[in-house]
Amino acid sequence: MKKISIIGAGNTGATAAHWLAERELADVVLLDVVEGMPQGKGLDMLEAMPIIGRDTHILGTNNYEDTKNSDIIIITAGIARKPGMSREDLLKTNAEIVGKAATETLKHSPNAIFIVLTNPLDTMAYLTKKATGLPRSRIIGQAGILDSARMRAFVALEAGVSVENVQCYVLGGHGDEMVPLTHHSNIAGIPLKEYFPADKLEAIVNRTRKGGGEIVNLLKTGSAYYAPSLACAQMAEAILEDKKLIVPCAAYMDGEYGLKDMYFGVPVMLGAGGMEKIIEYKLDAEEKALFEKSAASVRESHEALKSVVSL
Ligand code: APR
Repeated sequence: MKKISIIGAGNTGATAAHWLAERELADVVLLDVVEGMPQGKGLDMLEAMPIIGRDTHILGTNNYEDTKNSDIIIITAGIARKPGMSREDLLKTNAEIVGKAATETLKHSPNAIFIVLTNPLDTMAYLTKKATGLPRSRIIGQAGILDSARMRAFVALEAGVSVENVQCYVLGGHGDEMVPLTHHSNIAGIPLKEYFPADKLEAIVNRTRKGGGEIVNLLKTGSAYYAPSLACAQMAEAILEDKKLIVPCAAYMDGEYGLKDMYFGVPVMLGAGGMEKIIEYKLDAEEKALFEKSAASVRESHEALKSVVSL
């Protein structure tokens, strides 16, 4: 059986464990700093397996030893911004948490592929790459599948069609400047630009960009976790089953789309090697301008990281 370790057993981590366990893809280890909590959640999930007939083993722990020989490490550990905390303070704290999670797990699983979920996503993936020194194929950030799924859900609702008929591609940084590609996105092959009047399409694009915030405002405490964790499970499945699945993810750019030394959301191919290939779309002038704006904001966050931790 393959093995997936999830660092951070909060909402996203535990829900990712749930989706993965249900698929019987791999044994799951759930690690957190809080004592007892990952053990309790792990045991509860283990006890659910007989009901659905899955032989997945789930273990909750506070000990990195238990993550040894993982095929995939998923990092969701972090804290949310607290009142009075500056963005820099948050960045520094999460950078320390993610940096430690990456280096500790790597010690025990030298061949693992890393999927990063902690926000600010692109910058935490960048940090993981710098902290571990691993090739870019082995460090991937989750964001594009989630942002694209949000857009697919909104398009399907608006058009009254099955979500299965809707393909959307949201690229760029995982923030308000993300880039929903309305020409490449389609309903059963019809580009959204042709399907919807401009105002309807703009409303969908705006709702997608603010999708994370919409949920934070509703929940009041905490942020989205069902869709983010399922996106992460899809990535793990594509890697473990060597699917060669093309999906938008945050990847380390080395000249693609004119970008270098940064993480950015682009279509990638996921297979046994991790991020096996970056797919380059032909972008029109408007899309290129949006890409550049989004890249500038990710670069700014990378620079802020460099000012709070040494890489
Ligand atoms: N090591 C391990 N786990 C840690 C550490 C650490 N050093 N520090 C904090 N954690 C754990 C917390 O104890 C908590 O259980 O990380 C978990 C985070 O869970 P939640 O607070 O429920 O947050 P969640 O909604 O899961 O989001 C986690 O993913 O999508 C992103 O923006 C989100 O950055 C956030 C992350």
